[in-house]
Amino acid sequence: MKKFHSDISGFYKLSIEDRIKLLTELIDFTEEEKELIKTLGYFKSDQIDRLIENVIGSYQLPFGLAFNFKVNDRDYIIPMVIEEPSVVAAASKAAKIARKHGGFHSENVKPIMFSQIQITNLENIESARKALKEHKDILLKIANEQDPLLNKLGGGAQDIEIREIQTNKGEMIILHLLVNVLDAMGANVVNTMAEAISPKVEEITGGIVYLRIVSNLAIHRVAKCKATFDKEMLGGKNIVEGILNAFEFAQADPFRATTHNKGIMNGIIALTLATGNDTRAIESGAHAFASLKGQYLPLTKYKLDDEGNLVGEIEVPLALGIIGGMTKIHPMARLALKILKVESANELSQVAAALGLAQNVAALRALAAEGIQKGHMALHSRNIAKLAGVPDNLIGKVVKKMMEDKKIRVDYAKEILKKIEEGENL
Ligand code: MEV
Repeated sequence: MKKFHSDISGFYKLSIEDRIKLLTELIDFTEEEKELIKTLGYFKSDQIDRLIENVIGSYQLPFGLAFNFKVNDRDYIIPMVIEEPSVVAAASKAAKIARKHGGFHSENVKPIMFSQIQITNLENIESARKALKEHKDILLKIANEQDPLLNKLGGGAQDIEIREIQTNKGEMIILHLLVNVLDAMGANVVNTMAEAISPKVEEITGGIVYLRIVSNLAIHRVAKCKATFDKEMLGGKNIVEGILNAFEFAQADPFRATTHNKGIMNGIIALTLATGNDTRAIESGAHAFASLKGQYLPLTKYKLDDEGNLVGEIEVPLALGIIGGMTKIHPMARLALKILKVESANELSQVAAALGLAQNVAALRALAAEGIQKGHMALHSRNIAKLAGVPDNLIGKVVKKMMEDKKIRVDYAKEILKKIEEGENL
């Protein structure tokens, strides 16, 4: 075993096998751990090696299904990849409650993404602005030359927006290039277009362009979805009142709004991951959108209808694609899209918004009623019992006792197991 260090270069040039060999000279892996690293699951080694740098293995997460979803009168089974217990069951439950009143109603999500071009060192902001406006057509033409197929299919660069910002390094113009990316997430295409038009932007403004990159605050790609949740199925008037109070709490308090939105993202990110989309883009966009009014606010809103049912609404930017990136490369992402039966990025975003809303209602209902820990703990305690070495035929018994005594711990599971084995009647 060599002395441990992290000064390693050229790791990427090695085969996965040789990377593992090199690593085992530095880290004392057991035989079991070595086998674990080598288990690539459904990935072929050359396939996974092309996805990121320095790959040594693959990392699995549970892939579950949420049921009962009806969005715009179509039924959906929603794949979710998430490590947290209760989330999938909670989404299915809320979807069932919404179903009674027709399910979810999502608006069309136009797949417009934009890149930002940062123009600095401008002598005259006004004339630069005017020049950009005058050259809009040529800028769009250069942009569209980068992806003729997108253009042919009805997408492509469509418009520009010109913003001025004050910075510590002086005034800058930020040019937004708006692109209809059709069924893609779109970052690649808008980045390519931004880079392609930048020399022309410098030429016509006389400024210097630095950054040319997508904005993950996809403000032109906001999904809006509504649903009515039956008051009786939610648990009655008091629970509904609890949900309304929870909403007002989140409206007034960013500390609560953050957790409120975290619950929404439990659903949206699980679907984002299942379909091979970029979770970081969705997360950063959603949270920035939540703060656009100057205070971090909840992404959902609630009110009552005339019968006292809960009417929920969500608005969240969702840059989700069904082509490009990992969506068609990852075997489970492909399967997820097949299960979903969505035909466009627009449809995927509509379903994702419904899932986010369902997840939020489910969390608020549980918080207003029995609390969140009961559901969480049921699954968690099974894992704890397993960890404690409880045999499968006794897991139910040990879990029940841990739950009754509200002591979900490995040492307590062991203690219960010992008592059962000694013949004690629990
Ligand atoms: C836990 O993953 C999510 C919740 O905390 C969301 C919420 O508090 O609304 C339950």
